[in-house]
Amino acid sequence: MRNKTEIKIKPFWYSDIWIFPKLITIITTLDKEGKVNAAPYSHIMQYDVMHKTPRMMVGFRKESHTFQNICDTGEFVINCPSADYLDDMMETARFWPAGVNELEHSRFTPIPSIKVKPPSIDECPQIMECTVDEIKVLHKSSGIVFANIETIRVDEGLDKMDRGERIPAMNLPIGLGDQNRRYYYHCHIGEVTMHELMEPPGGQRGGEIRTTLDWDEEALRALMAVPVGVRKMVTEQAENFAREKGDERVTSARFAELSEEYGMDEEFLDRFRTRSERK
Ligand SMILES: Cc1cc2nc3c(=O)[nH]c(=O)nc-3n(C[C@H](O)[C@H](O)[C@H](O)COP(=O)(O)O)c2cc1C
Repeated sequence: MRNKTEIKIKPFWYSDIWIFPKLITIITTLDKEGKVNAAPYSHIMQYDVMHKTPRMMVGFRKESHTFQNICDTGEFVINCPSADYLDDMMETARFWPAGVNELEHSRFTPIPSIKVKPPSIDECPQIMECTVDEIKVLHKSSGIVFANIETIRVDEGLDKMDRGERIPAMNLPIGLGDQNRRYYYHCHIGEVTMHELMEPPGGQRGGEIRTTLDWDEEALRALMAVPVGVRKMVTEQAENFAREKGDERVTSARFAELSEEYGMDEEFLDRFRTRSERK
C-alpha cells in the first residue's frame, strides 16, 4: 500500500491539490445595452442528456460580467477554441472593465448565432447556443446556470468523422487548473488511445432480461433489435412507460412511442452495437 496524505479542503479546493482536466470554453454574452462580452469558463458539464430537454450546467463567479449578462438577458453561447488559440483565450480572461468586447483583444472573429443574439466565434470548431432554464445562486459561492441547448454547431466535415479522427482534427486543449489565480496550466491532446468496453466474462448483459408484463410479438421483435448492451435498460423503460399509460401489456405501438420519446432511432442504437452486432 502507498502512503496517502489527507488534504485540508480549502476554498477553491477544486483548483487546489485536486486536478480536474477540463474543457476550455469561451462564453459570449450581450449586456443590457447589447455590447458583446467574452470570457473563458471551464466549470461546465452536461446536465440533462435526453434529446428533448438537452441541458448544460455552468458555474460562475457571481460578480462576473458573463453571469450578470446571463441573468439580464437569458442567453449565451459556449464556444470551444482549439489549442492554437490558448493565448487569445487568456486575453479574454483578463479582468477587463464592463462594456469591453474582449474579442477585439484577440484573433477571434464574431459571427452571427442562429437561435440567440450573442455572437458565436468563427475559430471555434464546436459551438452551443443556450437559453436559461434555471439559475441557482449558491450562498457565499457560485451562481449556477442550468441552460437549454438551443442548437449545436460544428465545423463542416467534423460531423462526418468518427471520434478517432475528430479528436485530433478539433485539437481542443485540456484545462489543468491554475496556481494562485495567475498561472493557468493546459495541455494538448497528444497520443489518443482507444479501449473497447468488453462484455463481462461468462455471458452478455442481455441474457439477464426479465419481462414483468406481456409483450406482443412485434414489440418483442423490436426489443430484440435493440443492442444487447442496452436491452435490459430499454426493457425496463418500456414496461414502466406502458404502466404509466395504464397498459397491461407492451404493444408495438407503445414501444414505437417510447423509441420516439427517447430518440432511439437506428442511428442512435447503432452507437451501442458491438462490432459483431453491426455485421
Ligand atoms: C481556462 C479558464 C477557465 C475559467 N473558468 C472559469 C469558470 O468556470 N468560472 C468562473 O467563474 N471563472 C472562470 N475563469 C475566470 C474568468 O474567465 C475571469 O474571471 C474573467 O475575467 C471573467 O470575465 P467576465 O467578467 O467578462 O465574465 C476561468 C479562466 C480561465 C483562464
